[in-house]
Amino acid sequence: MEEEIQNNKRIKKEKKYWDKLTPRYEPFIEKYWKIYPSLLDKISEDVNSEDIVLDVATGPGLDALKIAERASKVYAIDISEPMIEEAKKKAEEKKIKNVEFSVEDAYALPFDNEMFDTVICNSALHNMVNPQKALSEIRRVLKPNGRLIATIVGIGESHKFKLAMAIYKFFTAFPVFHKLNLDESANMIAKSGFTIANKETIKHPEDRMPILYIVAEMRIKNDFR
Ligand SMILES: C[S@@+](CC[C@H](N)C(=O)[O-])C[C@H]1O[C@@H](n2cnc3c(N)ncnc32)[C@H](O)[C@@H]1O
Repeated sequence: MEEEIQNNKRIKKEKKYWDKLTPRYEPFIEKYWKIYPSLLDKISEDVNSEDIVLDVATGPGLDALKIAERASKVYAIDISEPMIEEAKKKAEEKKIKNVEFSVEDAYALPFDNEMFDTVICNSALHNMVNPQKALSEIRRVLKPNGRLIATIVGIGESHKFKLAMAIYKFFTAFPVFHKLNLDESANMIAKSGFTIANKETIKHPEDRMPILYIVAEMRIKNDFR
């Protein structure tokens, strides 16, 4: 009972801001995240055409719809109902058929073990109270040798960014729970049983904060030779 109360509190914390932001999500991205279109291109290039992909915390589905142009099938989940409604609307408008959106919690994914070639989590792990729980679920649903492509806003890359985010959070209640730099983000993912294949910091000159771009693999034991 107490666990259920705590879980509901956590879900409320994670989704409230995004529920409200849904109709303004695209203008929000355009204002604060100039890198977004090229970031989607980069993620998409890291996906193979025959891949079955899961997009965790898809928001209104912009990333999932982009990846669906390339991958064979995309499943995309988010904890916010308005975000998923918006994503479904966009898929219908664009007549994109190989993507399935549903409202789910990243901490309890409703998918079989070893179902996906690639899991994407674009700019969301720092917005989760306990990203390790999501990472453990991502690991469970990835095939052996499958890959996680995670991006995280690099708030921990400097004291200046940490301070700017603290001020922004104070005025907007923006749900950021982790202020990580590149190594801390990679270590968090590695601790969940992944092998880091690539980690880099990328930044658009007009954006305030960099994006931490991490590709992590689920290496099967034989690959450690
Ligand atoms: C910054 S948005 C990223 C959306 C999308 N990936 C993109 O790049 O446009 C963060 C998203 O994480 C979602 N989120 C937060 N906690 C979650 C959880 N536990 N399970 C699923 N989604 C979650 C929020 O609802 C929000 O839509």
